[in-house]
Amino acid sequence: LRQLKIEPNDYGLMSYDPAFTNTASTKSAITYLDGDEGILRYRGYPIEQLAEKSTHLETAYLILNGELPTASQLSNWETEIKKHWFIHENIKHLIDAFRHDAHPMGMFISAVGASSSFHPESAQIFDPAIRNEQIVRLISEVPTIAAFSYRHIRGLPVVYPDDELSYAGNFLSMMFRRSELRYKPNPVLERALDVLFILHADHEQNCSTNTMRAIGSAHADPYVALAGAAAALYGPLHGGANEAVVRMLTKIGSTKNIPAFIESVKKGEGKLMGFGHRVYKNFDPRGKIVKQLAYEVFEVTGRNPLLDVALELERIALEDEYFISRKLYPNVDFYSGLIYQAMGLPTPFFPVLFAIPRTVGWLAQWVELLNDPEQKIARPRQLYVGEPERDYAPISER
Ligand code: ACO
Repeated sequence: LRQLKIEPNDYGLMSYDPAFTNTASTKSAITYLDGDEGILRYRGYPIEQLAEKSTHLETAYLILNGELPTASQLSNWETEIKKHWFIHENIKHLIDAFRHDAHPMGMFISAVGASSSFHPESAQIFDPAIRNEQIVRLISEVPTIAAFSYRHIRGLPVVYPDDELSYAGNFLSMMFRRSELRYKPNPVLERALDVLFILHADHEQNCSTNTMRAIGSAHADPYVALAGAAAALYGPLHGGANEAVVRMLTKIGSTKNIPAFIESVKKGEGKLMGFGHRVYKNFDPRGKIVKQLAYEVFEVTGRNPLLDVALELERIALEDEYFISRKLYPNVDFYSGLIYQAMGLPTPFFPVLFAIPRTVGWLAQWVELLNDPEQKIARPRQLYVGEPERDYAPISER
């Protein structure tokens, strides 16, 4: 991890590591991940304990500040978040300008990026007070941007934030409120969503976090950096996987079609979405929690018929040599989409539900980057494999 320089004028040791599979790009004190043992901790606290006992906003405080808040710190933090969860009306107009069939991730990325122009002071990234204000504002505003995008797609009037509700409860209200009456979230669904937010809050140097750090390393403001991170998350190999899982399960349709589907995956005709992970070569600990959560949610919403397809697919894959030898296990996305679907959320919206909580991790990693004197602008090298030097030929001679 230390740069080796043999001669004063050489470039030091250079390794060829496509996709950074063996490269640590940073030191970090935020998230601990042991892929072989299936362990995930935020700031030292096991994900299982946080999912059982904490709330998303408390976990967000922990991830950002390094310690769990006291009662008064938590209360102030929640008040601060609520103070900022209305968005500028012109961001709403921006969302209104999109086609009704636009992908919500496209709207989310655009609206977050455009928010930069509403807060020009955010360019002062080394001013702690200004920086903290943008952090609070982004965590507060992303659910509102997401919900406004959803209402736009549905052709419904927006529902403004409700200060009486929790972070997850307010989000459900902005999504689903149908009348002037205050929305009362179902406590099981509200808690399930909050737990899903906790599980998705950070995950060390994944593709989108790496993007946040790369853009942040050029000292861009947090809005545009976060828009870039969200764009990376949009891809089906990353945050788009939960959407892809539900599409895959819908296409399989019935348990009797699973063997043929597994064979097609083994022939390389497609992937078993929601399986496999760059780091976990064991069960994703978040996946286990999500699976349990799915049963609790289905008690309220009724059983999602695709659950049987998912359970059977998981059973068959876990006994199949192809998946065993490659250490492919279900990841967090395998069951989360089924929960979102049971809650009535449209499939294209799933990656947005990932981006809302991951905003916390992106921002914590961004702050860590800016405070780290060892970090410079992210600038990997390459192995040049093109033509050697040659002379320009006039067009008449080509
Ligand atoms: N289905 C079938 N085969 C798979 C899968 C899968 N889901 N994942 C990996 N493999 C195979 C690869 O084809 C490869 O086989 P080979 O050795 O015969 O060539 C082998 O397993 C190793 O896979 P890699 O692609 O090298 O693994 P990598 O670490 O690069 O990829 C990734 C990890 C992108 C997550 C991959 O497992 C995948 O595409 N999974 C499906 C998408 C998904 O669920 N993404 C969500 C990840 S979690 C998250 O972002 C929250």
